[in-house]
Amino acid sequence: MSVASVMQASQGLNASVEALAALGAALRIRSEGMRVDPDVASLLDRVIEAIQPGGIEDLTADQAAIVLAFVRAFFRQALDLLENPARAPGWSFEDPVILQAQGQASRSIAQTFCAYAEKDPDFAAALSRPARLLDVGTGVGWLAIECARLWPTMQVLGIDIFEPALVMARGNVAAADIGARVAFRNQDIADLDEVEAFDLSWFSGPFIAADKVPESLRQIARATKPGGWLVFGTYNPPPSELGRLLTGLRIVRSGGRPWSEAEAADLIEAAGFESRGSFTTGSPVLVVVGRKAGKPQ
Ligand SMILES: C[S@@+](CC[C@H](N)C(=O)[O-])C[C@H]1O[C@@H](n2cnc3c(N)ncnc32)[C@H](O)[C@@H]1O
Repeated sequence: MSVASVMQASQGLNASVEALAALGAALRIRSEGMRVDPDVASLLDRVIEAIQPGGIEDLTADQAAIVLAFVRAFFRQALDLLENPARAPGWSFEDPVILQAQGQASRSIAQTFCAYAEKDPDFAAALSRPARLLDVGTGVGWLAIECARLWPTMQVLGIDIFEPALVMARGNVAAADIGARVAFRNQDIADLDEVEAFDLSWFSGPFIAADKVPESLRQIARATKPGGWLVFGTYNPPPSELGRLLTGLRIVRSGGRPWSEAEAADLIEAAGFESRGSFTTGSPVLVVVGRKAGKPQ
C-alpha cells in the first residue's frame, strides 16, 4: 500500500475522530452550560447539524451527560491505545477523567434495568421490593449510586479489585446524599463467599478476566437468593465489521473478552441461572438476564 493511500485513509478517519470530539464538545456545552466564542459556537452548530440533523436540543441535561460520558470514556481509551499500544491488558487507569466518565456512562445500565422491568413483571417486582444488589466491578461507584437513587429501599454492595477506583467510589458516595445504603469492598468476585445474600447482581462482563468468569458466575449463583436475578452486561458493538473489531479491541485492552449473547447465555446457564434472553435499549450496553430457580422469600 502506498504512502498516499495510507495518508488518504488516515485523513478520512480523522474526520470521524474530529466529529466525535465536536459532538462531545457540544454535549459538554449543553450539560455544563459553558460560554463559547461565537464563531466557534456557530461552526460547531453546523458540524452537529451535519452529524445529527436537528441537533441535540431534545436531550435532557442528564441524557446529554450520559452520552457525553460514553464519548469521553471511549475517546480517552482510544487515546490510551495511541499513546500506550504496548500496555498489558487490564483495567489499570488512574486518570480520574477515564474512571469517572466510564462510571457515569454506566449509569445508563440503571435505565436498562428500568426498561427491562417494563417487559418482565417478575424483574419489576424484584426491584420494587427492598432488594440487595451486588455490583460486580463497581469501579468508582456510579452505577451503584444511580441504583440507590432510583430505588430508595435498595441496599447496594459494590465490589472491585482496583483500590484507586474504590477510593474515588467512596468520595462519590459521600457526596451523593444517599445515606448508608451503598457500601464498597475490595474483593475479587471469584472469591465471593456469601450464600443466598443478594436479590440481584450486576456483572461487568467486558472487564472481568475471561478465565475467572465461569467460577465468578458460580459464586454469584450461590450468593443469589432463590428467585433472584443476574444481569450479565456486555457491549453491543456497532453493526459494521470495523465497529465490531474495535469494540473487541477495547474490551480486550480493558482486561475482558467480547462475549457474544449466546456465549453469555451459556455461561449463566452453566452457573445455575435460567437465561431469560438478552436486552438492549440502544445504548452501547447489551444485557443477558438470568434468574435463579426458586420462589423469592
Ligand atoms: C470500568 S468498571 C465499571 C464501571 C462502574 N460501573 C463505575 O460506576 O465506575 C469495571 C470494573 O471491574 C473491575 N474488575 C475487574 N476484574 C474484577 C474482579 N475479578 N472482581 C471484581 N472487580 C473486577 C475493574 O477493576 C473495574 O473497576
